[in-house]
Amino acid sequence: MKILVINGPNLNLLGRRQPEIYGMETMDRCLEHLRTLCEIEYFQSNHEGDIVDCLHRVGFDHSYDGIVLNAGAYTHTSLAIADAIAAIELPVVEVHISNVSAREEIRHRSLIAPVCRGIVAGFGLDSYRLAVEALIYGKRS
Ligand code: DQA
Repeated sequence: MKILVINGPNLNLLGRRQPEIYGMETMDRCLEHLRTLCEIEYFQSNHEGDIVDCLHRVGFDHSYDGIVLNAGAYTHTSLAIADAIAAIELPVVEVHISNVSAREEIRHRSLIAPVCRGIVAGFGLDSYRLAVEALIYGKRS
């Protein structure tokens, strides 16, 4: 199993960014744990087009089994990322650290949800593990 984890804008600041919402754990620690489950590649960008390019690059590569994507604020705004997800062949699981449905109204809408395999939100950085496990077990069943 090989899974690509993509993080969007501001998620490079995990561990320092609004810890009351996003916790104190760093992405490095989270990746360390994910790598005990399967092979994990990681990509982070603060730029919408870079995320689109990354989805194009990996999305037709069947040496990967799926993509876990936390698009950050682009979740709520980016038709370009939604179109890229719709265009590619690999399954994408949408992830959020916080429970976006319990936050400001603008975060309730996801443009990418309709084209993702599923959504995991609200479990802190454990959301990434749950999404990786969904791809692992989804593949087996
Ligand atoms: C987030 C939720 C988004 O609304 C926000 O813009 C983020 C992080 C989350 O993981 O909870 O940057 O995707």
